[in-house]
Formats: sequence, structure tokens, C-alpha cells
Amino acid sequence: MNTLFLKSNDIDLITAAEILKSGGLVAIPTETVYGLAANALDGNAVSKIFAAKGRPVDNPLIVHISSLSEWEPLVEHIPEKAKILAEKFWPGPLTIILPKSDIIPKATSGGLSTVGVRMPSHPVARKIIELSGCPLAAPSANSSGLPSPTVARHVIKDMAGRIDAVVDGGECDFGIESTVISLASDPPRLFRPGGITVEQIEAAIGKIEIDPAVLNGVSENEKPLSPGMKYKHYSPKAEIFIVSGSLQDFVLYTDLYKKDGDMALCFSGEEKYVSIPCLNFGSRDNPKDQAHALFYSFRCFDELGAKRVFVREPSSEGIGLGVYNRLLRAAEFKRIFPMRVYGLTGPTGSGKGFVSELLGKKNYLVIDTDRISHNVTSDGSPAVAGLCSVFGEEIKRPDGSLDRKLLAGKAFSSEESRQKLNAVVHPYITAEILRIIKENDGKGYKAVFLDAPVLFDTELPKYCTKIVTVSADEQTRLKRIINRDRISLKEAGLRVKAQMSDREYREKADIVIRNYRPYDIKEEIERMEKLL
Ligand code: TXA
Ligand code: MG
Repeated sequence: MNTLFLKSNDIDLITAAEILKSGGLVAIPTETVYGLAANALDGNAVSKIFAAKGRPVDNPLIVHISSLSEWEPLVEHIPEKAKILAEKFWPGPLTIILPKSDIIPKATSGGLSTVGVRMPSHPVARKIIELSGCPLAAPSANSSGLPSPTVARHVIKDMAGRIDAVVDGGECDFGIESTVISLASDPPRLFRPGGITVEQIEAAIGKIEIDPAVLNGVSENEKPLSPGMKYKHYSPKAEIFIVSGSLQDFVLYTDLYKKDGDMALCFSGEEKYVSIPCLNFGSRDNPKDQAHALFYSFRCFDELGAKRVFVREPSSEGIGLGVYNRLLRAAEFKRIFPMRVYGLTGPTGSGKGFVSELLGKKNYLVIDTDRISHNVTSDGSPAVAGLCSVFGEEIKRPDGSLDRKLLAGKAFSSEESRQKLNAVVHPYITAEILRIIKENDGKGYKAVFLDAPVLFDTELPKYCTKIVTVSADEQTRLKRIINRDRISLKEAGLRVKAQMSDREYREKADIVIRNYRPYDIKEEIERMEKLL
């Protein structure tokens, strides 16, 4: 079959309507996604939709109308609540299910005694319905199981050669399918969340029930009230994983477990933190943008050859419920809860080491980055080789060991040399930290603390959901340093001056532990835990 490619000018729309009138299949744009339309009252035409999509025949189709008067003949009776919803939300992304009349063929209703009807708002869809003079049954115009198409190109990808025509109406505005609500039962029941939210519906007609399948999987032998819920849906070829938690959790998880062919779907502005190829689906607090971009991005991932896609978990509030519902199904309900990392820092003498010890006893995995820094610069290590190429072979003693004092003298002589040192050593430290976290993932630790005095000088904050600083006034810190390291007040003072001030640490951190009198350190740690 040769698939005609039509534009949305008058002549092309008449052609589309002629095809539909004579029992053919035409993909049409709607404000939600592209639909694959046929005359809803012609069982023969409708069965071609199932064949073209490879859709299970028990999965009913939505019937599209362009005026309210077309609704009545399709259903047994229109109850008051249905009238209110239609009045408020049509034309628009809301499908209303009611007991069907006899003129709806079995093919259209998938054998059910009900039918879902919606009046789309897209001018091209409405025009085509008007011109063809019949209600149009139209599921999303994708091959069964794949993401719904939101541009004509994606319809062609799935349907070229299988249908009579595609009408190009540009990009769909909304991007995910309509809200589906059944008024065939009381209270009304939401089968599929979408552009019209639960809150909007309840404001119009009172309490509704949300079908459990909206947020949960349907097991094999279960018979959901809305047959579409039992099928795998919306999935690109790539395997989708939802990653719960913060951006930092996401960055850590993808850095720990990335493989060739991995890609990410994150919120806008986050791409720069993610080390695998990344698309964004709009801003974190804008579910409308997320809906618009979701299926489109899925299709892009396939075009890019992604094998696995890790997706930032969106909110499920309002329109977000529709986004979340599609994403859950695309991911076959796979959600990942990464290990959480916090930063633990503070100036010298603040008692950070003691806090580390206490956290270790509370079943946190505490990673001492100073020790790691020492370990990765052990004799013969690649880090030492790298340092030699920057600071000269003389930083090695005759026996090959690193002369740390000499190196410190050179590296801390200027800001530039200090940065050179960090550029060589930090990647090894980060790699070793990641190795340790991976080794301990799943061992039951409550979370990880990266104990790092110079945390803010490293790239580690990108993994830290929150940063905790241990704080103490200067007098207290000087006393502690003198006692601990047996040095003079003058030397202690120099060390303190060489660092960022306690105040700067506090300003940069999310949580402060007050490790000085009259505060009780155990209570302070408990207070911190509540703020994590
Ligand atoms: O936005 C949309 O609704 C798009 C555009 C093209 O209008 N259409 C669409 O159709 O998404 P489709 O077939 O891909 O999804 C219809 C969903 C299916 O999950 C189906 O099981 C459910 O609605 N459904 C349709 N009629 C039903 C009925 N009578 N009872 C229960 N569920 C029904
Ligand atoms: Mg569909």
C-alpha cells in the first residue's frame, strides 16, 4: 500500500475525508498525539486499524466527534455528570466512557458494552471529522507498544505502507494522550490520567476513584476494567529505568553504573552534570513541558541508538500524574533508588573526625577522602607519575617514594600550581570513591558521607545531595589543634588562617553541626539527621 502524505490545507483535508468515508485509514493530528482514524461506525474499517497497529482486538478505541450532537446516538444515555464534564472540558483532552448504543460495532468497543468518546480541540482533527461526516475511531497512531507519535515523521516511521494517508499538522501540543474517565460506574473512575487533571475533574463533578492500574502494574491473570492497562506501552527499543531521588543521586548512579549505549533523560539545565549522553524533557516543575517532550524524546533515543535510558523521576502531581503513568509503563515499573551521598566537611579543629566516627557507629558508610588521597599517591601509582610530569622527577625520593613535603612546597606556592595538583590527583580520588561506594552498594548502609576537609575545592559536591559542615569557634578550634598535634599557638594560628573560615564553610553548607559548648554533639547529629 502506498501511504499518501497530506498537508493540512483544504484540498488535502477533503482527500483525507474521502478516504475515511470510503472505509480507509488516515493518521490525523490531535492536540494530544497523532491518531489513526477510521469510520467508527464501520466495523470493517475499524478492524483495519487493529491490523495496521498490531493491536490486541480486545483493546477498545476512542471515538472522536466534532460537535455535541454527534455524541447522543453513540451512547445509551448521557448522565448529568457527563454533560458537565463535556461542557467544561470539550473540546479538549478528555475521553468520557459511557454505556454504548447499538450503532457502535463490536470492533470499535473491543467487545465491551461501553464506549469512550472525546471531542478533540485540534482544528485539523475537527475539520476532518466534519468533512467525513462520521465519528472517527482513533487510537494513537503508533505500532502497538511503541511511544505514541507526536509528529508526522514518527507516524510514518511506524505506519508507512500500512495505512492510506497521514495528515501532517505539525507537532502535537500536549504530547501525551487524553485523560480517560468512565462514567459507566458510580463514583466515576479514572482509567488514564492526562491533560485534564483529577483536581479539575473533581472540582467539576465531585469525588472520583482512581483505578489502581494508574500507578500499579496489572498482573498477567488480572482483568483490568480498561483493557489498555494490561499491555506493555509507550516503550522505545531502549530499556527505560526511572531513577528516584535528587539530581545528585542521579549523577552518582549513572557515573557508577554507566555502560556503552546508556543515555539519560533529565530536567532542563541538568545536562551539564550528567556524564552520559543526555536529553531533557523540560523543567522539573513544569509537567506540561514534560508531557510535551516525553514521547518525542523516547523516539529520539531510538534514533540515537540508545540501549538503556535513565530518566529523572518527575512529580506525579496534577498533569504530572499523566507523565508519571506513561513513564512507569514505558519502564515496566522499574524504579531505581540509588545510594544517597552527603558531604561532610569543616575547618581544621572543628571535630569533623569525631563526627565521622559517630556517624560510622550509626551505620553510615563514611569515606575518608584524605586517606584516599594518600592511597592513590602511593609509590609507583599513576597519580605519582602524573605529578612527576607536572612538578618534575625531584618530587620522588631516590627510593621512588613521594616526597610529600617537597610536593606540598611546590604545589601550594601559587593558586595555579595548587590547581595543577588537583587536576592530576582529583580524578584518581573520585574514581576510588566511586569504587568504594559501588562495592558497598546494597550492603544496608543508611547513606554515605564523604568526609572531605576541602570538599568545596573538588568535584565531589556534584554527588552530594546535601553538605554538612562541622562548626566551632576559632578559640575552641585552636585549643583542639594544639592539643591534638602538639604544636605552638602560632603554628596552629597559621593553619587556621590558611583555610576558609568557619563562617565560609557554614555559608556554603546546607546543614551545620555545632560542635562547641554548650551544644551536645549527639543531639546535634540527631538534629542533622532530621534535616538530611
Ligand atoms: O488522546 C487520545 O486519547 C488519543 C488521540 C488519538 O485521541 N487516543 C488514544 O487512543 O490514546 P488509544 O487507543 O491509544 O488509547 C485508548 C485507551 C486504551 O487504553 C483503552 O483501553 C482505553 O482508552 N479505553 C477506550 N475505550 C474504553 C472503554 N470503553 N472502557 C475502558 N477503557 C477504554
Ligand atoms: Mg495508544
